[in-house]
Amino acid sequence: MSYKAVQKVRVKVPASTANLGPGFDSLGMALNLYAWIDLAISNQTTIHLIGDQMHGIPTDKSNLIYKVAQMVFEEAGVSHPELEITMYSDIPLTRGLGSSASAIVGALAGANALIGNKLTPYALFQLASRLEKHPDNVGASLYGGIVVAFWDGERAESIRIEPDSNLEVLVAIPAFQLSTEKARGVMPKQVSMKDAVYNLSHSSLLVAALSTGNLGMIRHAMKDALHQPYRAALIPGMTTLLEQAENHGALGVALSGAGPTMLALVDARSGQKAELEAFLKDTLAKEGIEAQTLWLKPSQEGVSVIELLEGDEDLQSLVESEVLA
Ligand code: HSE
Repeated sequence: MSYKAVQKVRVKVPASTANLGPGFDSLGMALNLYAWIDLAISNQTTIHLIGDQMHGIPTDKSNLIYKVAQMVFEEAGVSHPELEITMYSDIPLTRGLGSSASAIVGALAGANALIGNKLTPYALFQLASRLEKHPDNVGASLYGGIVVAFWDGERAESIRIEPDSNLEVLVAIPAFQLSTEKARGVMPKQVSMKDAVYNLSHSSLLVAALSTGNLGMIRHAMKDALHQPYRAALIPGMTTLLEQAENHGALGVALSGAGPTMLALVDARSGQKAELEAFLKDTLAKEGIEAQTLWLKPSQEGVSVIELLEGDEDLQSLVESEVLA
């Protein structure tokens, strides 16, 4: 990590999945699907978004990355009102794969690197959790691996777990978008003691299973009573997937974050991968939902930043030559 201020940086930040079933607002895992942000101190603000999927994202000073970068400068007591920002992302928007958390974490880490990393990663985690109001996605994008965390409205604390090397992730990403706001809106304001105990016991067991590499326990632990039963109404086919995916080779299955993406944890050595993928796609298709499936791995690395020097390849060329190649 460099402690000298620099003119221009390139950030690579992973997607993430939150909750992992019972760990509502407290468990997250980074995934090897990435967004890249080039950030430079400039004398005029320009924001360039590469690719079609970011259509509609503001390119003026109301842009999230611009605003978050300014928060870092303010917190560190420096002023850089004009920035040149370029962004490319492979993370689908509003699908439950942490796209907004990756933008927040990318902007925090990039802006911090521009000013010589005046803020610690812990301070960035506090800022990110305050912005998202839950620490699961931002923690995973910041630190990588699996993150167990809380945010109590004032502070966030976390511990990172190294994902088991045999853990793979299959996601089915429906073609429709679902906002976190809407998916939180269907949840009850109060829950019973029975459901609270159900979740804390399952979530604790899941953390223990993931920490110790007890992959066989995931199917028992990855069950939720707090949010999935309510959100199922928004995602046709979800209840069938939750009830049956383990019979088709999943170690466990959950809604990814606030959805609509469905996520299955899979043992890399499983002989049922093709069967599971077909089951996910077919179940959603029967409900009229077109879904793209992707095989992913946990990303061991969280956000990373490099300094860009005069003559380095620009992000557009990097995307064309390496990312899309
Ligand atoms: N924990 C959050 C939720 C993640 O489930 O609402 C989505 O941003």
